[in-house]
Amino acid sequence: MNVLVVESNPKAISLLSSALRAEFGAKVHVEKHGTPGTAYISENPMLDLVVVRSINPSPDHNAEETARIVLNYIYDNELTCKVLVLGEFEAAGFEYAHLPERFKVSDFTTLVRKTLGITLEKLKELKLGDYIPIDIQNFYVMNKAPCDTYIKLARSTGDQYVKRIHSGDEFDKAAIQKYEAQGVKELHIPTDQKNHFLEAQLKQYLGSITDITKPEPVLVELRSDAYDINKTLINNTGVTEQMILMSQASIKAMAQSVVQNKKLGGLLKNILNNKGSFAYKHSYLISVFASAVMPKLEWSEKKQFEANVERITFAAFFHDILLTEEKHIRIRNKLDLYQAKLEAKEKDLVLEHAHNMATFIHEMKHAPRGAEQIIREHHGMRNGIGFAEVYTSSLGAMSIMFIVLEDFVSSLLDFKEKGLTIKEILENMNETYQLPSYRKIIAALQEALTDSF
Ligand SMILES: [Fe+2]
Ligand SMILES: [Fe+2]
Repeated sequence: MNVLVVESNPKAISLLSSALRAEFGAKVHVEKHGTPGTAYISENPMLDLVVVRSINPSPDHNAEETARIVLNYIYDNELTCKVLVLGEFEAAGFEYAHLPERFKVSDFTTLVRKTLGITLEKLKELKLGDYIPIDIQNFYVMNKAPCDTYIKLARSTGDQYVKRIHSGDEFDKAAIQKYEAQGVKELHIPTDQKNHFLEAQLKQYLGSITDITKPEPVLVELRSDAYDINKTLINNTGVTEQMILMSQASIKAMAQSVVQNKKLGGLLKNILNNKGSFAYKHSYLISVFASAVMPKLEWSEKKQFEANVERITFAAFFHDILLTEEKHIRIRNKLDLYQAKLEAKEKDLVLEHAHNMATFIHEMKHAPRGAEQIIREHHGMRNGIGFAEVYTSSLGAMSIMFIVLEDFVSSLLDFKEKGLTIKEILENMNETYQLPSYRKIIAALQEALTDSF
């Protein structure tokens, strides 16, 4: 947005310019008098608005009717740019916005917005400036640039945007990681391309994870990258349409791979050896083991199997997504929490993550029934706050299964550090869980493991 301010008072100039820049991201040009003002107008046909003081002291120390000069010029030349006049002024037959001599900055910006017909949504975009940053990891799940993509160079003269990827250019994750290795954390795209970018990202991601020619390790890495992107999205912008669509696609792909891959051993080896974050792996493995365990449980009917896998996968995908750090995800009881020595804010985040995520899910359309309860209860508390001292059987059957499996999966992922065998892990778990409803899950897990190894 381009604005010309015709004003001679230095204080007013700085006040108006900074309000226009801060509120609208506007490019502001200043002239002190009518004649240079109209010269600027004639040279800049893309001008959106002229803010003009009604009367300015003229160069020969007389009063200059600046607003009248500007309005006459605009009318004579049939220009479309809007005019906002400040101070005592009346001119019949002209169209202009007007503020009195003294005004509040908020009145000024509101009037600018109304004069230019800027909606609140558009205002948000304007404030962002011409380019918006996109976390570089977002490009991992993509292979073609939907728009020109820039890197930002901070120069003493202001930020400079240099085009690095042209619209339509193809790239891969390795190429993106080269930028990262050079310290680039964000790439920039034109602000008005944001929706187009997000749509393309989703489309390309969907195309990749449903591409059956891609080997499993590549798919695991892709899903893990998508999980990490969603984690950043939800923590930065909350639940958005984009996040929901992308996570739905991930969950579907995860659930499908779990159901299709009959051999637990192979699946396990794949995920343990593949690239991917701890956060993603622990979520995925809960869903893998749930699909192996459920057929052994009397409450899980065969015909509901796929729906149950989807429910558990959904819960597994989201249950810890609010936790940004691996060390937070690893906290599974009060002792862990104590030993982690967290700052108060981090501690609250950990204590409340189950409750907060369940609340999110409650508001999300199309969430599978029952997923909210599993997420709320995944640390053994019915209200989703804190960690259970003793596990009770007052939780939902699927929540109990989730708790037991998450415990197992966590030990499994620590295999390299702790070196416990599967047998030892199960023995430890039989000590932790005394209630029959929990023991049943451990027994079913044991059975499933014996079947597959
Ligand atoms: Fe977890
Ligand atoms: Fe958790």
